[in-house]
Amino acid sequence: MSVSASLDSDRAHLIHPLHHPSAYASTRIWVSGEGALIKDANGREYIDGLSGLWNVNVGHGRRELADAAQRQMSTLAFHSAYAGGSNEPAIALAERLSTLVYPSINTFFFTSGGAEASETSFKTARFYWKALGKPEKIKVISRHRAYHGLTLAAMSATGLSAFWPMFEPRTPGFLHIDAPDPYRFTSRDPKVSLGVAAANKLEEAILDAGPDTVAAFIAEPVQGAGGVIVPPVDYFRRVREICTRYDVLLIADEVITGFGRTGRWFGLEHYGVEPDIMQFAKGITSGYVPLGGIGVSDAIREVINGVPAATRWMHAYTYSGHPTCCAVALSNLDVLERERLVERAAVGGARLLERLRGLEAMDGVGHVRALGLMAAVEVVADKTTKALFPAQVALAQKLTDALLERGLYTRVALDCICLAPPLVTSDALLDRIVDILREAIPPVLDAVRKESAVSVSP
Ligand SMILES: Cc1ncc(COP(=O)(O)O)c(C=O)c1O
Repeated sequence: MSVSASLDSDRAHLIHPLHHPSAYASTRIWVSGEGALIKDANGREYIDGLSGLWNVNVGHGRRELADAAQRQMSTLAFHSAYAGGSNEPAIALAERLSTLVYPSINTFFFTSGGAEASETSFKTARFYWKALGKPEKIKVISRHRAYHGLTLAAMSATGLSAFWPMFEPRTPGFLHIDAPDPYRFTSRDPKVSLGVAAANKLEEAILDAGPDTVAAFIAEPVQGAGGVIVPPVDYFRRVREICTRYDVLLIADEVITGFGRTGRWFGLEHYGVEPDIMQFAKGITSGYVPLGGIGVSDAIREVINGVPAATRWMHAYTYSGHPTCCAVALSNLDVLERERLVERAAVGGARLLERLRGLEAMDGVGHVRALGLMAAVEVVADKTTKALFPAQVALAQKLTDALLERGLYTRVALDCICLAPPLVTSDALLDRIVDILREAIPPVLDAVRKESAVSVSP
């Protein structure tokens, strides 16, 4: 089929994630990938600046992962892992994860992706408190600009309001506090650091809601889709203290930050704290097949295992513990370990950040941040006031298109150019990413300034 016939067929038959026909003009049909590069149906090559959707950590074109899938599919592609059934890849993956994640987390439930992991975390938190005789503890607190997926409860925890209006009402019992954004969070308490002040918002929210009603606080160690918000170093230590003090479970949403993205295996390792529940997806298989899940602390596992059969943990997905997906995950972990890609993310990320900092002097570049190979460049209309451009100039789309024209694929969220290239990206390509940003931003700013001037003139 020709490219234009494929595009016509796409328009006739596909509903895309975040669907709107206005995006058709920039649709590209992706056909192949190798390492950090992807190719479209016209044969043009791009740097994959977002690893697909923050997930292709080991890079594209890994034969070894395809072989692992093929081997498992030709032996036993699928069978149910419902209680009473199990399979070798799921057992091996759970055991292996117990050696990689936080020491107090040794038990895992698998899902097909991140939103299902969020749902599982919320339900597990409620289950835990009910089992301990505290059935009123049901509320979940999250942050503005958080992204936890788009099923109904996950969407309600997600703190990006653009996702809500056409699907309201949201699930009751989900509350949001400010994000610990070092660029935009302001504190009126001079006695404590910015990180502690931002964490204290959690204490205020728990006290407002009533500690006896709050089941959990969910947080991405680095907020991804909300614009790569790297919290101050002391934020999570204070969050952990508050959660422990008020009997609120701490859920780490490691769907993006897991499996090396930030230069450590898991994001909270940077901050020296452990969650009660952690959730993951994306990088566990580098996106080669869908897989997600949660890990629970030994204390939670004891509670789950301790209830009478009649009140069992009645939660399930057909594809939980999918043998093929778990086999691919094991192969993906082999690659991450053998090629020391977690260390590579730390070293490459430091290089990327250093070079991105060189952009901060540019007109319109308000803030630059990164942790490992997870970075953002925030573009603003006014560097003094930090004001964003008005929505009608569609800066994000213009930036995305300008980057694509120059050979860089990525996403722009809330006027933050997000970067999360595969962990295998070479130094030369990391430097090229920064050069492309340097070339692309000024003409886009010129265009939107001209447009804004025209739209405000009489
Ligand atoms: C932190 C986080 N949690 C959850 C999700 C939802 O994952 P999925 O799209 O697989 O449902 C995402 C997806 O980007 C995410 O970034």
